Amino acid sequence: MEMRIPLSDMAYDAEEEQAALEVIQRRWLTMGSVTQKFESEFARSAGVKHALAVSNGTHALHLACLALGIGPGDEVIVPALTFVATANAVLYTGAEVRFAEIIGEDDFNISPEDIENRITPHTRAIVVVHYGGYACRMPEILEIARHHELAVIEDAAHAHGASLEDRALGTWGDAGCFSFFSNKNLATGEGGMLITDRDDIAEKVRVLRSHGMTTLTWDRHHGHAYTYDVVALGNNYRIDEIRSALGLVQLGKLAGNNARRKAIAERYRKGLIGTDAHRIELPFCNAAGIPAHHIFPILLPEGADRIKFMESMRNAGVQTSIHYPPIHQFTYYRQRYPDLSLPVTENVAAREVTLPLYPGLRDDEVDWVLSATIETLSFDRMFASSG
Ligand SMILES: Cc1ncc(COP(=O)(O)O)c(C=O)c1O
Repeated sequence: MEMRIPLSDMAYDAEEEQAALEVIQRRWLTMGSVTQKFESEFARSAGVKHALAVSNGTHALHLACLALGIGPGDEVIVPALTFVATANAVLYTGAEVRFAEIIGEDDFNISPEDIENRITPHTRAIVVVHYGGYACRMPEILEIARHHELAVIEDAAHAHGASLEDRALGTWGDAGCFSFFSNKNLATGEGGMLITDRDDIAEKVRVLRSHGMTTLTWDRHHGHAYTYDVVALGNNYRIDEIRSALGLVQLGKLAGNNARRKAIAERYRKGLIGTDAHRIELPFCNAAGIPAHHIFPILLPEGADRIKFMESMRNAGVQTSIHYPPIHQFTYYRQRYPDLSLPVTENVAAREVTLPLYPGLRDDEVDWVLSATIETLSFDRMFASSG
């Protein structure tokens, strides 16, 4: 069924089309000068020393782990309320994940207190995820990391252009990892970026993203180098010039698009707070810093039937989603880490629904989603207890 209002939509126009066309006309598609420009502009906008473009956000996370020397015998603390890639990236290295709880119904980000509970002699790092583009409690988390000598990786897949205490998200830890998947605030279809102030991490990532080679095809083609050595077991985690060109255009639009996302989120909040929509709860109402407003999550009241809610929204032409089925409850992870219970995460994950949010969403469409939400929740059949 064609949705009247999709969950997400790309903010693309003739500028992206032109940028892709220009790359094709120049006849150089693999990583080269456009990627270098994308990296330097991304680094400048985040206020960070190094930005390295890669094939996707998952590979950025994997490279961050590898560059930090994480491997077999190590443990990395991660939240369970995130996309599965956050944990997978750790497992690829041979290390194990230790899932930590989120803070609660007001804040779906990883709990600093529970991070401390999960630290063992094997813990090497913490991966934080800025859920929805809302900042984790970075000062507290960095303090814990310093105290226990742990590295910090930021999964900033939702957090393009977001900041906390005037410092860009992704620049607080040892490395910050971004995704440019189609639904992200900065979208190139596939693609990702790793940012860091640490020269040693940047150097390792530069080599590991391209087969462990010391020079690129682009360098050799342009006479900057004639041969190469292979100094590590790398992989092909490179981005390409078309995606970098799209990324450059999207980077230029990011502030404007994020401002529109903020206005939509505010309109949703105003429309839902104070209505009698059966006690919907809204997280991140007092979020610190400047969020990226990547998604708009709501918490249905206890006892509401989420599937019925989502079906009713679909009948009203509104696509909704769930962020996220918690990772530790997926079959693969249940088999790997049996008997793990995270009650706060599980409660939130069972009640969360994500409403549509993208820069092109018009005010009248936001109002349509609001009325559909309020009307749907006013039906008693949404509540199992009322039969
Ligand atoms: C929180 C989070 N981490 C990691 C990823 C992985 O990024 P990618 O799809 O670019 O590999 C995503 C999104 O897709 C994500 O939402």
